[in-house]
Amino acid sequence: MTPTFIYGTAWKKDATTQLVETAVKAGFKAIDTANQPKHYSEWLVGEALAALASEGISRDSLFLQTKFTPLDGHDDRVPYDPQADLKTQVRQSFERSLKHLKTDRVDSYLLHGPYSFPGLGDEDWEVWSAIEELYRSGRTGMIGISNVNYLQLSALVERVAIKPMVVQNRCYANRGWDREVREICREHGIMYQGFSLLTANSPVLRHDPVTTMASKLGVDAAQVIFRFAMQVGMVPLTGTSKEEHMKQDLRVYRISLSEDEVSFIESIAG
Ligand SMILES: NC(=O)c1ccc[n+]([C@@H]2O[C@H](COP(=O)([O-])OP(=O)(O)OC[C@H]3O[C@@H](n4cnc5c(N)ncnc54)[C@H](OP(=O)(O)O)[C@@H]3O)[C@@H](O)[C@H]2O)c1
Repeated sequence: MTPTFIYGTAWKKDATTQLVETAVKAGFKAIDTANQPKHYSEWLVGEALAALASEGISRDSLFLQTKFTPLDGHDDRVPYDPQADLKTQVRQSFERSLKHLKTDRVDSYLLHGPYSFPGLGDEDWEVWSAIEELYRSGRTGMIGISNVNYLQLSALVERVAIKPMVVQNRCYANRGWDREVREICREHGIMYQGFSLLTANSPVLRHDPVTTMASKLGVDAAQVIFRFAMQVGMVPLTGTSKEEHMKQDLRVYRISLSEDEVSFIESIAG
C-alpha cells in the first residue's frame, strides 16, 4: 500500500495508543513512528495495532514506518547497545522495533538523520549498508532517510547499492518548500514525505490569500496546506492530537486547488 497521508506519532506520550486507534478509525492508513523513546512511544503504537487487529483492522491493511535513531538523538533510553558497532546498533534497534510493533515486518524503515553535516561521512555509509541489509532480508518494504539536505541526498543516490526510496523532511515555505531535495526525489522516484507543514509555516496559515482559498473550499488553512503538499507530489504527515482535526485533515481528499493556487502557495516565502 502506498500512503498518501500519514499520521505522525511524535510527542503523543501515553495518549499514543488511543490516538493511533482514533486516527486509523477516522481514516488514516499510514502511521509514522521511531524507536526513539525521547520523542516517540513506539511500543504504544504496537498496543494500538494489536487493539485494532482485534477489531478486524489488520496490520497488513496499514502502512507502518519507523526509524533508526543515531546515538546523539537519544536520552538515556537508548534502544540498542551504545558500545556496539553501528551495524549491530541498527540490527538491535530494528529487532526491538518489530517487537514493539508486534509485527515481523515494517513497510518503511528510515535513518532518522545523517551523522555528518553538511555532507555524509563514514558512519552514514556504514549505517546505510546495515539498512540495505534489512531491506534485502525482506523485513522492510522500503528504506529511506530523514532530515537530509541536497548535498547528502545527492551523494547517497549516487553512491549506494540500494537507493533511498523515501525521504522525510521538515518543509519550510521560506526554503522553497524544500524544492531542491524534492527535485532529486522526483528524478529518482523517491517518495517525499513532508513534516511540520503546519508548525514550520504558521505565517502561511495566516496569509490572506491562503485563508481566502480555505473559506472558498469550506476548510481551514491547515487543509489547504496539506492539499497543496499532495498536489506538488509530497506525502504529508499530520501530527494532530485532536479527533476533530484528524477528520478535518482527511477532507483534503475532497478538495482540489487550481494550478494557479498551487503555484501561488509554492511561491510564498513564509
Ligand atoms: N523525522 C523527523 O525528524 C521528524 C521530526 C518531527 C516530526 N516528524 C513526524 O511528523 C509528524 C508531524 O509533525 P508535527 O507534529 O510537527 O506536524 P504538524 O501537523 O505540522 O503540527 C501539529 C500541530 O499543529 C496543530 N494543529 C492545528 N490544527 C491542525 C490540523 N488541522 N491538523 C493537524 N494539526 C493541527 C496541532 O494541534 P492539535 O493537536 O490541537 O491539533 C499540533 O500542535 C510527527 O508526529 C512525526 O511523526 C518527524
